Amino acid sequence: MYRIAVIPGDGTGPEVVREGVKALEAAAEVAGFDFQPTFLDYGGDRYLRTGLTLTDEELEELRAFDAIFLGAIGHPDVKPGILEQGILLKIRFGLDQYINLRPVKLYPGVECPLKDKGPEDIDFVVVRENTEGLYAGTGGFLRKGTPDEVAVQESVNTRKGVERCIRFAFEYCRRRDKERKLTLCGKTNVLTYAWDLWERTFREVAAEYPDITTDYAHVDAICMWFVKNPEWFDVVVTDNMFGDIITDLGAIIQGGMGIAAGGNINPQGTSMFEPIGGSAPKYTGKNVINPLAAICAVQMMLDHLGEGEAAERVERAVMRVCERDIRSLSAGKMGKSTTEVGDLVVKYIREV
Ligand code: IPM
Ligand code: MN
Repeated sequence: MYRIAVIPGDGTGPEVVREGVKALEAAAEVAGFDFQPTFLDYGGDRYLRTGLTLTDEELEELRAFDAIFLGAIGHPDVKPGILEQGILLKIRFGLDQYINLRPVKLYPGVECPLKDKGPEDIDFVVVRENTEGLYAGTGGFLRKGTPDEVAVQESVNTRKGVERCIRFAFEYCRRRDKERKLTLCGKTNVLTYAWDLWERTFREVAAEYPDITTDYAHVDAICMWFVKNPEWFDVVVTDNMFGDIITDLGAIIQGGMGIAAGGNINPQGTSMFEPIGGSAPKYTGKNVINPLAAICAVQMMLDHLGEGEAAERVERAVMRVCERDIRSLSAGKMGKSTTEVGDLVVKYIREV
């Protein structure tokens, strides 16, 4: 029996989470396991009502779950940053979810914006460090509001944090067993302190993994290669900020935010799975948003929980919907409603 915390969140979050939970129910039934969802109302509406984002007690309560399934955080009436920091980042940091795992996989039938590239070319995974770097929140203002103002935002890179991330990436690359190639994505030519530490650590850990081929790319260059030669990549490891940026590029080459999902992983604790698109306020309540990204997040969650067969069923169901049933992955252009897409996934989970 898995205890799952479900945080539908803001905007279209609840609509896509509903379909994700449907897929989870079907997968559980077919694979023969049980789960108990606990719905939590953290998000913009609760914040506007109560002034609370996520309290320390609530954060503690999340530790008791086997996994967290999150819809979206972000509300048009709340100043940007409050909910992101108060809920999303508070969970990532508080539960020490030090890996943000973001697969970039183009499924057959999905339109790709890259000329002459298909599913055989686009299948890699980004391992993003998820608790340090520029996201650590250190820095500050000097003489704020004056003409002599100074703003400092520091990138924090600890040996421990860098090493555990790189180690995870090597292990993941080995387990994935595809090309057995791990690319470090950094900026050693300019950010000479942080990336010196990353590169040294990468080289040292690599010595323990002789079966993995290693490579290095600067972050600016990797943006070019993702577009020109996505087939070169198997697993990419990078820091928090670069990982944030390159995974939006990754999402668009796999068909967009309609399908991109990620896992915030603490291998020893509670992990959280989410579609990586935002709360899409303009589509809220219209039943037109694509639920496949949320369903892919469920797939990742199942995989993480050790329910490999269920995860595979969900993935095959998503692939079938992409190939047979929807015209586009974009909200409002699928030719089907959010609910209908979820219903089809459920049907295929039972069939495949
Ligand atoms: C993401 C998002 C978040 C991030 C925001 C909403 C804080 O862009 O999950 O990639 O920057 O990590
Ligand atoms: Mn992002």
